[in-house]
Amino acid sequence: MSNTATLATLSGSDAAADPNWWRQASVYQIYPRSFSDSNGDGIGDIKGITAKVPYLKALGIDAVWLSPFYPSALADGGYDVDDYRDVDPKLGNLADFDEMSAALHAAGIKLIADIVPNHSSNRHEWFKEALASPRGSDARERYIFRDGKGENGEIPPSDWESVFGGPAWERITEPDGTPGQWYMHIFAKEQPDLNWSNREIRDDFLKTLRFWSDRGVDGFRVDVAHALTKDLTEPLLSKLELSEANTGTDGFIDGSHPFWDRDEVHEIYVEWREVFNEYNPPRTAVAEAWVHASRRARYASPQGLGQAFNFDLLQADFDADEFREIITRNLAEATESGASSTWVFSNHDVVRHATRYGLPQGGGKHAKGQDGKGWLLAGAPAEELDIELGLRRARAATLLMLALPGSAYLYQGEELGLQEVGEIPDSERQDPTFFRNKGVEIGRDGCRVPLPWETEGSSFGFGAGRAHLPQPEWFGRYAVAAQDGQEGSTLEFYRKALKLRRELQASEELEWVENSDAGVLHFRRHDGWQSVTNFGSDAVDLPAGEVLISSGPLDGGRLPGNTTVWLR
Ligand code: NOJ
Ligand code: CA
Repeated sequence: MSNTATLATLSGSDAAADPNWWRQASVYQIYPRSFSDSNGDGIGDIKGITAKVPYLKALGIDAVWLSPFYPSALADGGYDVDDYRDVDPKLGNLADFDEMSAALHAAGIKLIADIVPNHSSNRHEWFKEALASPRGSDARERYIFRDGKGENGEIPPSDWESVFGGPAWERITEPDGTPGQWYMHIFAKEQPDLNWSNREIRDDFLKTLRFWSDRGVDGFRVDVAHALTKDLTEPLLSKLELSEANTGTDGFIDGSHPFWDRDEVHEIYVEWREVFNEYNPPRTAVAEAWVHASRRARYASPQGLGQAFNFDLLQADFDADEFREIITRNLAEATESGASSTWVFSNHDVVRHATRYGLPQGGGKHAKGQDGKGWLLAGAPAEELDIELGLRRARAATLLMLALPGSAYLYQGEELGLQEVGEIPDSERQDPTFFRNKGVEIGRDGCRVPLPWETEGSSFGFGAGRAHLPQPEWFGRYAVAAQDGQEGSTLEFYRKALKLRRELQASEELEWVENSDAGVLHFRRHDGWQSVTNFGSDAVDLPAGEVLISSGPLDGGRLPGNTTVWLR
């Protein structure tokens, strides 16, 4: 491996300047509206995050990834951006942002901002101008407008469907009041797709990258990085033709889909990389790209974004063979691209892994986003959910992940062992997938419920008011206050594991240790550090070594089922 991390040997300001800080970082995702509410309006905010920096420091993470915090009507939880260079007034202002960034940096924590380049919101100045301007105008050219088909243009330009359900085209009313053109939106209709063949859009995003980098943002998480460039040459293929050509957000492997994962998207990221490299240390980026595994390395290239999410473990069953195959393949891919690998079990788009693993196997099917089926599941019949098993497996999986070379991405609340919230009344749901896909998808609100900080009181310490999504009565049991300092709690387990990971992480190699017990995964890192996971249900003999940490109680010299242990 060429670019070996040196994190473990650096400290203080040296670590801050280390160009490789991201390679094996533990990154904690904050969904700002649901983290901590400083002013009691029910919405988590920037000052709320700043107040919790000591908590983040004690957790032992290296970086925070902040989901969108930009002005937004929240048609899609903030992924509908009104202005790329400002803070949502509901969350604070730029001064609050600077204060948060300074507090994080003072605590030795990097800051990664989510950037949403595929679409703006329909309230962005550009879109308002496009609606007010005539067909063919420069203002319309910032988006993807087309005339409809049929005698009066009343039929959408194609039959494509939005990822959130319903058509991917919306008709507008022209400034003179007549029914007009259609614009494309891969996601909600409030998220018109930008036209990335327009130089003005490209330049404006370079400006945005510099804007946040100048404010001290250390890296970017790039939303739907694989969708920006489109080939909309007529005739547009029908959805049937596309599906016959084996298309899909993760299955189309030759770059010929009209909008997913086209080869020329990487020209954009080469330009972004030039901007990232203007800074010291260079700004980092991680692509959210649900592409075929064989095409992921392009996004992770050092000449491009530098790293890409791998959602393979997140979609896998709790199964030794599946885990081993995924880990082996991804480490090889990372070597090929020059990036480090990424690992993730939970984020704001999928059912929390403590819940997934408590459901009948078929984990991927319960988790997978953007495949038209996923994001469902909190609605699973209660009798099929084994909460205790789910948490046990989640902790075992997490401890395994934290022993892997590469970056580990954690999602707020998983350090509390939080379960998905199933019992959100329809009238309180917010996710557009729920509304656009009625009866098919329950949506992603269940993993976005505001965190419980206290065991009781208004919104369990989230803030002084009622939380913007209802918290169930059982949330108090998972509260930070209930777990803080409690031996064996999930929070203390995460703290200890993250601390050890920081101390132990050095070079990026991994070597499998063959184990005669089926369902056991055993690997060795450097300096004698080993991780052993028993995916089965019966205890097995514990290999020799000093026990550093285990995800659950050990049984004398035995490693119980659904448990991971680190040895040295
Ligand atoms: C992926 C984000 O993670 C998801 O939350 C969002 O809905 C879509 N991209 C559209 O921006
Ligand atoms: Ca607030």
